[in-house]
Amino acid sequence: MTSVKKDAETSLDPQLIQSCGDVYRNPTEVQMSQIVLPCHANHCGELSVGQLLKWMDSTACLSAERHAGCSCVTASVDDIHFEHTIGVGKVVSIIAKVNRAFTSSMEVGILVTCEDLYTDRHWKVCHAFATFVARRTEAGKVQLKQVIPHTQKEQMEYSLAAERRRMRLIHAEIITDLLNSSTAQLGEFQEFEDSVLAERTRVESVELVLPPHTNHQVSTFGGQIMAWMENVATIAASRLCNAHPTLRTIDMFHFRGPSHIGDRLVLKAIVNNAFKHSMEVGVCAEAYQGGEPLRHINSAFMTFEVLDGDRKPCTLPRIRPEPVDGKRRYQEAIARRKIRLDRKYIISCKQTEAPLSVPWDPSNQMYLSYNNVSALKLMDTRTNWVLTSEKNKVRLYTLEENHMLCIKVEMHVSVPAEQAFYLLSDLRRRKEWDRHYEECEVINQADEDDTLYRIVTPSVSKGGKGKDFILLASRRKPCDSRDPYLIALRSVTLPTHPPTEDYTRGEVLCAGFTICEEFSAVTKLTYYNQATPGVLPYISTDIAGLSSSFYSIFSACSKFLEANTDGVCAQPPSSF
Ligand code: COA
Ligand code: ADP
Repeated sequence: MTSVKKDAETSLDPQLIQSCGDVYRNPTEVQMSQIVLPCHANHCGELSVGQLLKWMDSTACLSAERHAGCSCVTASVDDIHFEHTIGVGKVVSIIAKVNRAFTSSMEVGILVTCEDLYTDRHWKVCHAFATFVARRTEAGKVQLKQVIPHTQKEQMEYSLAAERRRMRLIHAEIITDLLNSSTAQLGEFQEFEDSVLAERTRVESVELVLPPHTNHQVSTFGGQIMAWMENVATIAASRLCNAHPTLRTIDMFHFRGPSHIGDRLVLKAIVNNAFKHSMEVGVCAEAYQGGEPLRHINSAFMTFEVLDGDRKPCTLPRIRPEPVDGKRRYQEAIARRKIRLDRKYIISCKQTEAPLSVPWDPSNQMYLSYNNVSALKLMDTRTNWVLTSEKNKVRLYTLEENHMLCIKVEMHVSVPAEQAFYLLSDLRRRKEWDRHYEECEVINQADEDDTLYRIVTPSVSKGGKGKDFILLASRRKPCDSRDPYLIALRSVTLPTHPPTEDYTRGEVLCAGFTICEEFSAVTKLTYYNQATPGVLPYISTDIAGLSSSFYSIFSACSKFLEANTDGVCAQPPSSF
């Protein structure tokens, strides 16, 4: 267990002193602290995750309602990974704040830490992002006021919230597609003699929704439903291993419809599959009143482990699923496990630790696209750039940090932002202004906003080999008027395009453009590149002040944009 310093990681943002001398505090921030009592704990003396989920949901809901000024409901919760369990006697602190408001929905960031009062140590337990929706009024859907970020961290979360929202809204559809395509490739289910019948783990439980389970608007709290779901999932997991299971992760889920006082909530859980050290339990929550048909409220997938005396995961028995639905869920659990591993590898990897090129395939496309755009957004929110060179209002900045060098080129062009966006997002046209782009072909149009390209650049040394790059280009239109247009580029590997003898394979970790219309048809264009050994030779003389090729390239870019003002449409590159 690693302890963290109180003011660094356990607070959501470093302190900012305002001009009046007061310490800035985000106006939507809400904190809750609780001492873990035996009534909050399971029989092993650990805080039950269900209780924690209730506290997290109420803190986040209060933050959302503080921003919205009206009653809000939990719409969804992104993946949560629990890093530690919490013992009786410890203090749990939860901080929630609204990262961004969209139309009627808001993303709330939630950080949970644990404190040992006797030793003054603090630990991060988990962080989560939940979406809350302001309840419709008689006049219709609520239009929330915008969140104005004040600190660099708030700006970063604000910017990333739009990208997380995009992923959330396509999540269910993408997972269904992936399950359909990958379960077909998993082959026949294997029988093992010593396996446990899945049926043995099946749990069904009913809860009557009473006033203490609901908010002031008589809607059932999302956290309460999650707590009930966690309870049945824990019983199912215990039945497989006949031991105490520890909940490690909950996959992203969505509250499909509301529940109210008087509802009977039927909760059903079963172990879908057991791997060597972890098992997936699926839980489904349905509601009914009187003779009404069941309403599907929520389905969640939870991963449990069983820890030995040294907190190491034990080997689990295998599972024998029932025919038809059981076998389908067994296979879907394998596919979800692969998706989880991909996501963990791509999304949670820090930019400095990530390998340069990661393999691209349709099952990780959503996460690679997210990673590509969020890396560029992170660079865009940095404030410590140093102006290195300037020529005719084209500015070159550098940023050196953690053994990494990033460059930024900034200029203004006299074209509308949307126009610049469409022209620059078709990389095949880049050779019209950038002499480093010798050839460029579209390899795969993954979707409307993601394209894979192969690019050939000339050698920097006389007689040397040229370089080729396999790039994923992900483009985004602004989510609202405060966002720029964005084109993010990063290297990927493709089995169909291995490196060849004729070219040195170059790699781009993070590069791209942000495009922002400042006045009518006057657009600020910013180009970023996180230098890798493959890219450095092209930019080092500029950084050292020995040349100003950045200026000639970007003024050519400006001329290209100004000369191509007609006939650009909002189509992906393949259809230009
Ligand atoms: N994750 C995050 N946000 C989502 C979402 C999801 N899976 N699905 C919809 N939303 C957002 C939409 O983007 C929209 O945001 P915006 O107004 O900022 O653009 C907002 O929810 C409303 O969407 P809308 O299309 O108007 O309504 P809907 O019919 O999709 O309903 C809910 C969305 C959340 C209101 C509805 O599913 C619901 O009532 N769920 C139950 C909520 C609840 O009671 N929770 C407590 C426990 S039961
Ligand atoms: P599906 O049934 O298609 O797998 P659901 O959303 O209905 O999807 O259910 C989600 C999970 O809840 C299932 O994967 C399963 O683990 C669990 N579940 C669903 N129905 C039952 C049931 N009748 N008994 C036990 N567990 C169930």
